[in-house]
Amino acid sequence: MLSQKLHAAINEQINAELWSAYLYLAMSMDAEAKGYKGVANWFYVQWLEEQDHARIFMNYLNSRDCKVELKPIAEVRTEWSSVLEMFQETLKHEKVVTGLINNLAAIAAEDKDFASSNMLVWFIDEQIEEEESARDMIFACEAVESDKYGMYQLDKELAARTYTQASPLASSAE
Ligand code: FEO
Repeated sequence: MLSQKLHAAINEQINAELWSAYLYLAMSMDAEAKGYKGVANWFYVQWLEEQDHARIFMNYLNSRDCKVELKPIAEVRTEWSSVLEMFQETLKHEKVVTGLINNLAAIAAEDKDFASSNMLVWFIDEQIEEEESARDMIFACEAVESDKYGMYQLDKELAARTYTQASPLASSAE
């Protein structure tokens, strides 16, 4: 069993991951509506990955005999002024998530809960990647700003992103 504090914080994190999923799905739909099919694909993959993150935490709570308590998913914004703005919000949001993961790691360390600390290592590494990919996308958008053909090319590039299931889920059939 986990400490009550860590159990509650992971339940909150499941909600945060599902909210992230919903945010990226909204970005995908907005990009689709504006004709950016590649950008829509990039954010669609992001929505799948965030659901993996929630599932990893849910599987973990179940494996530690702790109940998953699902909470309402708060409303998300549905319109962005540009693709650049979507990626700027992505970076801002991922920085918040990094803070939440760090907070979980701090609670696990305080509890001397080594199994939880170990589980969180994957998320700590993942957040480095999440922030880096958002920064890369901001850089790419800034590079093609006011160049419609460049944006067209970037959109085609983003269409190639594919979903790979998160490694902690790879061995389970779920
Ligand atoms: Fe679940 Fe984008 O971090």
